[in-house]
Amino acid sequence: MFLPVIMAGGSGSRLWPLSRQLYPKQFHALTGERTLLQDTAIRLDGLGAESPLLICNEEHRFLAAEQMRLIGREDVSILLEPVGRNTAPAIALAALFATRHGDDPVLLVLAADHFILDVDRFCESVKKAVPLAEQGKLVTFGIVPDRAETGYGYILRGEELPDGGFVVGRFEEKPDRQTAEKYAKSGKYYWNSGMFMFRASRYLEELKRHRPEIVDACSRSIAVTEPDMQFVRVDADAFKTCPADSIDYAVMEKTDDAVVIPLDARWSDIGSWSALWDVQERDGDGNAFKGDVLSLSSNNNLVRADGRLVAIVGVNDLVVVETKDAVLIAHKDQVQKVKDIVDLIKAKG
Ligand code: GDD
Ligand code: MG
Repeated sequence: MFLPVIMAGGSGSRLWPLSRQLYPKQFHALTGERTLLQDTAIRLDGLGAESPLLICNEEHRFLAAEQMRLIGREDVSILLEPVGRNTAPAIALAALFATRHGDDPVLLVLAADHFILDVDRFCESVKKAVPLAEQGKLVTFGIVPDRAETGYGYILRGEELPDGGFVVGRFEEKPDRQTAEKYAKSGKYYWNSGMFMFRASRYLEELKRHRPEIVDACSRSIAVTEPDMQFVRVDADAFKTCPADSIDYAVMEKTDDAVVIPLDARWSDIGSWSALWDVQERDGDGNAFKGDVLSLSSNNNLVRADGRLVAIVGVNDLVVVETKDAVLIAHKDQVQKVKDIVDLIKAKG
């Protein structure tokens, strides 16, 4: 048995104008009928895991609870962060909460923004990870890279282990383009999928070794916490003193006790509009449409119409996203820059 921890506190700014601070991408249905968060919870069905612990920002509590209720998961506990401090503190809160009565469960830490087509393969990899996590390893799940993506962590495959998986030779979070190209070509690196498995105490031990101030602040935050129905709140003043960092920089780059289990399940972090186009079903012209869309002589476009009719004529490789108060039109090769638009909007106030 293990305890799934679903991290759902990110902002997904490269998916503007759909993903907003008040309604980030994990709460949207991007690839089908269910939201990415709902898919993340449902994917666990075949694994016999405990009921998940969800961790997200206080302002999204009703959204998260309602989405869980709609798929029959009223039993999910929701740990609420007063402010976002990135994933290292989020997982520390989850680990401290899970161990508060002296238990020490194995945690399966999941991102809430992933697309995974082959759920059976995902379950197989998770099952392989359990004994390694029970032995005290920090387990990652590695994807064979098909391009030099700079938005992911890279894992050098070390010695093969007798029961499957490999020692992590080196973990490098978000390398620059040149380095990512070298790693992707080498055939020796995996992408970090952003999912992890370890005992709660083992994570806290490693985090304490490398970033003691995070464990300190999180321990103070959770000291007085008991659930209020489904919600678990932490001490806001204490948590605000916590430095922000991701698990990748804070722990995975530094530990020498990590192992990687390969994951071959048509995985994607739907981090950008082009990543969504990549995994979506497309028509004979290579277009992926959602909503009321008309098209003539146009190929390989992603178009989403939320309320109004959108028509495209004679255009290729575009992303068009229509929402109530904003419209995005971008070239598919330039969609990484959507984040800069969000920064510009913030700067304008
Ligand atoms: N609760 C909580 N609090 N969740 C958070 C927070 C936070 O402060 N910040 C991010 N998250 C959630 C996001 O919602 C997402 O589900 C997950 O944690 C990962 O965060 P991202 O911000 O999406 O990380 P990333 O995609 O840039 O990088 C990570 O994932 C890549 C693969 O998708 C890293 O682990 C990379 O190494 C990895 O390759
Ligand atoms: Mg992500």
